[in-house]
Amino acid sequence: MKSYNRIFLLIIITLFYTFQVACAQIQQKTPDKKDSFSFVFMTDVHIQPERHAVEGVLQAIDTINKIEPDFVLTGGDNVMDASSQSLGRADSLYSLFTNTMKVLKMPWYSTFGNHETFGLHKKDFTSEQRKGMYKKYFEKTYYTFEHKGWQFIVLDAIMYGDGREDRYYGQIDSVQMDWMKSVFDTIGTEKPVIVSLHIPILSVGDQIEKNGFTPRSVIRRGNAMELIRLFEAHNVKAVLQGHLHMYEDISFNGIHYITAGAVCGGWWEARLPGKEREEGFLLVNINGDEFTSEYIDYGWDVEE
Ligand SMILES: [Fe+2]
Repeated sequence: MKSYNRIFLLIIITLFYTFQVACAQIQQKTPDKKDSFSFVFMTDVHIQPERHAVEGVLQAIDTINKIEPDFVLTGGDNVMDASSQSLGRADSLYSLFTNTMKVLKMPWYSTFGNHETFGLHKKDFTSEQRKGMYKKYFEKTYYTFEHKGWQFIVLDAIMYGDGREDRYYGQIDSVQMDWMKSVFDTIGTEKPVIVSLHIPILSVGDQIEKNGFTPRSVIRRGNAMELIRLFEAHNVKAVLQGHLHMYEDISFNGIHYITAGAVCGGWWEARLPGKEREEGFLLVNINGDEFTSEYIDYGWDVEE
């Protein structure tokens, strides 16, 4: 019996150290120089039964399937609008989106956008209630995952209030800030990181088009500075943003802040001259610990 006990103890110790080493590799592993992969960031899909939107989304998905990225990450506003709709309509849009995405041949992840809010105009609704429908379909509004030595951090940038109960604004709350700092503490300063959030931290296009910013178009200044400094203290390579339906790539202190256009262009509608939005998505190619990106026009043009 004693020798059996010793063998059993040895197996337990071996398993324990194997597990410890595996965990350390997941937490601190930086990419092998030979590692290369691609992923797609598709933001502002705004799916709806009207305006031929489903045809457009399927065309985008067909293009993505031919590119064969490792995975797809959405940037928020998956659905046209749940915020001021009935429960039935809002739920049907979520269902339309998730069913259409089943045509994708690779795994996909989601970011929470303002149009995913349910019950924005219900003044007695709490933040939890407003995000309840999203959590029913996607479980979490913020989370992290690893892919081939890169860490992906998906944030929930939608808060409610701003002087009026029925308004949203862009902010990363203190609960997420603390959580994100613990993620960075775990992965260290070497591992390359890509962040996704719906409301941009930095934008130039919005400044030009609107001659200024609102708390609904970009993250509030103090919070944005806190995020930028945190990213600069770690190896964040890119911040992928949505919301503004414009394509811009801002390089600031070595980090790219990319507002990645919109799959729906101008909400599946023709826009006025000068306000046209090219329907597309962002293709990101990773090579070792570097990346390049390009905006892909998947060929959809809205009817005039
Ligand atoms: Fe949008």
